[in-house]
Amino acid sequence: PWFLVARMDWSEALADAHGASVVIFDDPLSPAQQRNLEKGTARKVIDRSALILDIFAQRARSLEGKMQVELAQLQYLLPRLTRQWTHLSRLGGGVGTRGPGETQLEVDRRRVRERIAQLRHRLADVERTRGLHRHERASVPFPTVALVGYTNAGKSTLMNALTQASVLVEDRLFATLDPTVRRVRLPEGLTVLLADTVGFIHKLPHQLVSAFKSTLEEVRRAHLLVHVIDVSHPHWEKQAAVVDGVLDEIGAASLPTVRVLNKLDLIRAGAPGTGPDALPISARSGEGLPALLRTIEAQLTRGLERVSCTVPAGRGDLVAWLRRSGRIVEELYREGVVVVTALVPPKVAGQLRKQLAGAGGARC
Ligand code: GTP
Repeated sequence: PWFLVARMDWSEALADAHGASVVIFDDPLSPAQQRNLEKGTARKVIDRSALILDIFAQRARSLEGKMQVELAQLQYLLPRLTRQWTHLSRLGGGVGTRGPGETQLEVDRRRVRERIAQLRHRLADVERTRGLHRHERASVPFPTVALVGYTNAGKSTLMNALTQASVLVEDRLFATLDPTVRRVRLPEGLTVLLADTVGFIHKLPHQLVSAFKSTLEEVRRAHLLVHVIDVSHPHWEKQAAVVDGVLDEIGAASLPTVRVLNKLDLIRAGAPGTGPDALPISARSGEGLPALLRTIEAQLTRGLERVSCTVPAGRGDLVAWLRRSGRIVEELYREGVVVVTALVPPKVAGQLRKQLAGAGGARC
């Protein structure tokens, strides 16, 4: 038996009334506070950070995620070991006496520090690889759409549903090396990279924020965000506000965003607050997904003109220019020519027609 309590509400009588052997504090406790509370009551005391770290540790799937969570857990543990060590060293006697506890704890602290250094080193390697992937992806002119949302909102379910509802372009490179990014073709033909991200949470332990920095970087660099909201949750508005707050913190608040009100199948009254920027969907039943795909495409192609150009195969420079200045829908290689369909700003379309008029055999 356990119960959750805010620090200001805490009392021994409350714990007795709940018959609880474990008390979870909804606020972060300093190592000293935690120790004192534990001493003062015959119960195990943990705080919100420890609980969240534990849940993340159970849920982490990828090697990177596991390393990030372990790093956060050790950073949480280290100051607690230090406090305990001070405490035990006093028991051991005066200055210069080494109690057996002290030695053991010193060893523990050193081991934790070494492991932290090792994890940081490995994560830096992963981050470098991630940077390379991002670079590779940037050289492919596909816009990135990042799924963000409160934990349990249904991001992963939506990611799977969207890749099934649209044509999933087989892409072994991304599929094996970077499983959180998938390539998807939208109804009008635009190809996008869809990225799943870590779930946000109210009062995320600061150790986790720093551990997930590289993952959140993916969000900041996206062209469009899809904010997944679980409208069946009684506090969905508060959860959405937390997500908006985190987006603001990481400098992603100004990115174009589509809000989706998910788990529509669970609410009878219909989704609240829907509008052009908030689409009701059910990632589970598939309801609303075609409309979502169309909205994503419309957002990404807003103000762009569709052109279809025939370019002589020798003019790779013109194809490269098209790739740089617009969004490629399709490239077809025929005998001696490349037919490129792209979405480009109207100004570029005009320049393109002029340029191609001068290139033999080209047309736009
Ligand atoms: P985190 O990994 O914590 O960030 O979660 P997530 O946002 O990726 O959520 P996930 O896709 O794992 O879904 C959470 C739970 O909600 C799962 O049990 C899903 O089956 C369920 N779920 C997701 N979408 C829907 C939906 O549209 N309707 C219903 N009824 N359940 C859904």
